[in-house]
Amino acid sequence: MRNPAGSTDRRVDKLINLLVKNATVVVPGPKIASEIGVTRKKVWEWIERLRSLGIEIHGVHGEGYQLATVPDILAPSLLRAELGDIPMGRNIVHFFRTDSTNAVALKLAAEDAEHGTVVVAEEQTAGRGRLGRSWYSEKSNGIYTSVILRPPLSPAAAPVLTLMAGLAAQKAVSATTGLAVDIRWPNDLLVNGKKVCGILTEMSAELDRLHVVVLGIGLNVNHVHMPAALESIATSLRMEAHRGISRVQLLVTLLRELERHYQLLLNNGNKAITERWAAASTFAHGKRVRVVSGAGQTQATTTGLDPSGALKILRDDGCQELLVAGEVVEVK
Ligand code: BTN
Repeated sequence: MRNPAGSTDRRVDKLINLLVKNATVVVPGPKIASEIGVTRKKVWEWIERLRSLGIEIHGVHGEGYQLATVPDILAPSLLRAELGDIPMGRNIVHFFRTDSTNAVALKLAAEDAEHGTVVVAEEQTAGRGRLGRSWYSEKSNGIYTSVILRPPLSPAAAPVLTLMAGLAAQKAVSATTGLAVDIRWPNDLLVNGKKVCGILTEMSAELDRLHVVVLGIGLNVNHVHMPAALESIATSLRMEAHRGISRVQLLVTLLRELERHYQLLLNNGNKAITERWAAASTFAHGKRVRVVSGAGQTQATTTGLDPSGALKILRDDGCQELLVAGEVVEVK
């Protein structure tokens, strides 16, 4: 696949890989330049770029460069080295900065990018959220990624794919951080009642077949604080775990969990996901919620998950309903 415009030059990835592999020694500038096939000036420019992302690289005058710490950049070579031969992440497209990884992924999908292609950015300038909202995408501190799926499923499976992504993300976050992670229908992850992860599923379909599904996942990982407008509803994994979290490790675990849950859905059907989802979320049963949908707001109690992925609710006016879109907020 051709690298899309604006994505990170593959030779930057080689540079990172070279520094990681030789982390115990000072690597001479000319050696780096000749191994990756660029000028020494270019090497210096790229080192500066990496430093601007917070990667500590010592420059020993006249001798070369050496990493001070293991870099936590979502470089394809670092991710691929950990992933093994699974379809999720077989192709990884990295950006230092882009508008929205979902926008990029949808474009790549229209150009026939293969199933499992991953787009990842260190920063987004126009991160998209659900219901027309934006997604706060602070540089180098979050994971902003979009995964292209080509499921052999009908459009009716779309809601369960959305739940599947939330479930996989929950398993990845709790395994990596040790935190207790809740899932709010359909697929927000909450830690101590505040949001740490949001997922935006976008797709194109024909009447009987899903063409392509883009799972856009945003995770607040190492933010030291959240902007004032978000701090009452959102938090980061670092703020809750009181330690920095490796984004590389978390994204690798996330892609593995996505692969595992995707196979579970294909091989065992909707119920394999909806039952696990219901067991993993306090929102599935008996939760008092405010329902926000196109039709306005009502209060209700949740009564389970339908095999289609819809949330069953009993409204305060006594009506039972299946929620297929919109969102719920806990009422205390
Ligand atoms: C939500 O509103 O909860 C969904 C947020 C989804 C954000 C992610 S960040 C990576 C991907 N690219 C986007 O523009 N949005 C999604």
